[in-house]
Amino acid sequence: MLEETSEDLQNAFKQQLSLSETLEDLEKIRLAFLGKKGKVTLSLKSLGSQSIEVRKSFSKDLNILRSFIAESLTEKKELFQKRDLSEKISKEFEDLSLPVVVEERGCVHPITQVKDELIDIFSKMEFTLEDGPEIETDFNNFTALNINEAHPARQSHDTFYINQKDKNRLPLLLRTHMSTVQIRTMMKDKKALRMIAMGKCYRADYDATHTPMFHQIEGLVLGPDITMAHMKWCLQKFLSEFFEVDKVNLRMRPSYFPFTEPSAEVDIGCKRTKEKLLIGEYDEWLEILGCGMVHPNVLKNCGIDPEEVQGFAFGCGIDRLAMLKYGIPDLRSFFETDKRWLEHYGFQGLDIPSSVMEGIA
Ligand code: PHE
Repeated sequence: MLEETSEDLQNAFKQQLSLSETLEDLEKIRLAFLGKKGKVTLSLKSLGSQSIEVRKSFSKDLNILRSFIAESLTEKKELFQKRDLSEKISKEFEDLSLPVVVEERGCVHPITQVKDELIDIFSKMEFTLEDGPEIETDFNNFTALNINEAHPARQSHDTFYINQKDKNRLPLLLRTHMSTVQIRTMMKDKKALRMIAMGKCYRADYDATHTPMFHQIEGLVLGPDITMAHMKWCLQKFLSEFFEVDKVNLRMRPSYFPFTEPSAEVDIGCKRTKEKLLIGEYDEWLEILGCGMVHPNVLKNCGIDPEEVQGFAFGCGIDRLAMLKYGIPDLRSFFETDKRWLEHYGFQGLDIPSSVMEGIA
């Protein structure tokens, strides 16, 4: 005779199931009844040595019991899984009304901060902000800007060209300056315009004051009677606002750019003390930007009649502006993604650019 009837086994199973609390408990019960050495398995095995009558009467019950146990375990398992999941979800709940954990707060990169300040300064002078792609045509980067193929300026730009399978296609490159956006804007808006463009530019150069990728702001003003006097006023206004001083001395030295005529290099007045560099009405000089009156050939290349319209343009390194304003000594550190550096030189997300603050006060 069998030691336990299927009814006994069923009762034992039901009792253990009702006491189970976890998925591990269920697994233990499964092994205890249906595992290789489980009670139901052993009972079924032991039937082999029993008489035909005993086998007949017990095997059916035991097989029914086996299915019952398997189904009950699956049902309870699903229940426990659902319960565990909702417990996990409720624990993972984030209370968005809690204050920010200061150590985990990100910083605004000085370049982003300076770009915001520049947008603020130029939008007050009613300049628009224009944009263009970093991968440019040779035409927009050089030819339209009066730099033809044989021009030596092409070498001095240390250009990164894009390898193209089809050699018959027009050459593509990483823009070496933001003047490309001036070309794009003049092509579509041919009359009066005031614009700035800011973004990443690329040249194969690397030392403490040059990185292969850098940021530039370029500006362009076009109109029927724009002169160099407008240019000087505009640059003086921009630089004094940017460096937060009442007046900044400007010195213009004759220079050469293929796309402007006449061209000038601009220095700002500064004073070097032991601790820091002061910018304003001083008579030491620091080179800050390049500028000039747009060359008639550039206007013609964009379909503009130089007899009717003229204008001025300027270009300046954003990284250099940030280094000077915030006392950052090495250009390369801007792009090293060092969190400690960013915490030191970065800005808080809710900081308002300094020139906006003045407007509010
Ligand atoms: N595009 C020039 C450069 O990157 C800067 C510049 C712009 C000079 C406009 C004059 C006028 O070197």
